[in-house]
Amino acid sequence: MFEQLQALPADPILGLMALFREDANPDKVDLGVGVYRDEHGQTPILESVRAAEQRRFGSEDTKAYIGPAGAPGFVSALETMLLGSDHSALRDKRVFTAQSPGGCGALRAAAELIKRADGDATIWVSNPTWANHIPLLGDAGITIREYPYYDHSAKTICFDAMMDTLGQVEAGQLVLLHGCCHNPCGADLSEAQWQALAQLLSERGLIPFIDIAYQGFARGLDDDAYGVRLLADSVPEMFVTSSCSKNFGLYRERVGAVTLVAADSGAANAARSQLLSVTRGIYSMPPAHGGAIVDIILNNEDLRRQWVAELTAMRNRINDLRHALVESFNRKGAAGRFDFIADQQGMFSFLGISAQQVEQLQRDFSIYIVGSSRINVAGLSSTNLDYVTDAVISVL
Ligand SMILES: Cc1ncc(COP(=O)(O)O)c(C=O)c1O
Repeated sequence: MFEQLQALPADPILGLMALFREDANPDKVDLGVGVYRDEHGQTPILESVRAAEQRRFGSEDTKAYIGPAGAPGFVSALETMLLGSDHSALRDKRVFTAQSPGGCGALRAAAELIKRADGDATIWVSNPTWANHIPLLGDAGITIREYPYYDHSAKTICFDAMMDTLGQVEAGQLVLLHGCCHNPCGADLSEAQWQALAQLLSERGLIPFIDIAYQGFARGLDDDAYGVRLLADSVPEMFVTSSCSKNFGLYRERVGAVTLVAADSGAANAARSQLLSVTRGIYSMPPAHGGAIVDIILNNEDLRRQWVAELTAMRNRINDLRHALVESFNRKGAAGRFDFIADQQGMFSFLGISAQQVEQLQRDFSIYIVGSSRINVAGLSSTNLDYVTDAVISVL
């Protein structure tokens, strides 16, 4: 059977990781992979996570399966983190959340549910969007179409073009939105833009699907959920997929959630049973450990406070690096050219240089960036910042 299969080229980001590992240059810089890094280039285990793990190891008394929807304490704390403690959708019991293996597991489960509900479903994704959105949604059999989002020459969201396109989408189709910290472009909708969008989605009967993988990395936990909360107020139905990979640093534990907001509690109940039947047919039950850690942290006042402080430190570091990078470019002779980086949010921005220049940075300076010129700002540090700016300026 396997002789029927042709070898595929390496995934571009995983391939880049391998090349970086093999590179012997002591000055090498990895701006490719989408994980948070501290000043020493490490992706640390948060102290709040370590403390929660200690508690768990001391008290865990079984390895029996957790329920198909995950740990109840995790699910309710996560719903509150997404929607706030007093959202009408929660009060009206229109919300159902299932813990999932990471944000990716949530995206795939939601996609399979959409396909079940509508065999001809179409989802509109931003151009550009996170590359993995395409297989996660498309391989479930949903048709994917694109709406314009980022204007590479103006370095901003092309909001009018986005609204024009979405204004012509057929009722009942879905629109994928990044809750905050757009991956890959870092350009987020303003509150006024979310409001205009909410009105359009509601008027046209479109179904929002918000993927929020970086809550807390842009402005703060509540501010970053502005779009989720507003849309849950504005439309009868929506999907939200979320991830605890970045904000809790739990990448390899695979913890995330899929949240459905339905028109009423009856519809939420039906959607719940279908979603759990979908996940039963994919991974059966979510893994327990990561969800248990988040559950312990979010439901303990001291640990939660400690985690919020650690999350704030990660956010501040990223935002400080954005400003330091722009300042360095401006000081070293590329005045004004990269100012947009300071206005964007989260870990990613496009440098806006050519694929050839990206290649040159890798070949001549051992600076690893994906071909689109998306950089992970968190890969910068006070040690490599000047090296990176000098190198970029030299290839311009
Ligand atoms: C936009 C977006 N959505 C979802 C995810 C899912 O992440 P994970 O499956 O690691 O939780 C990521 C991770 O990079 C992402 O960037």
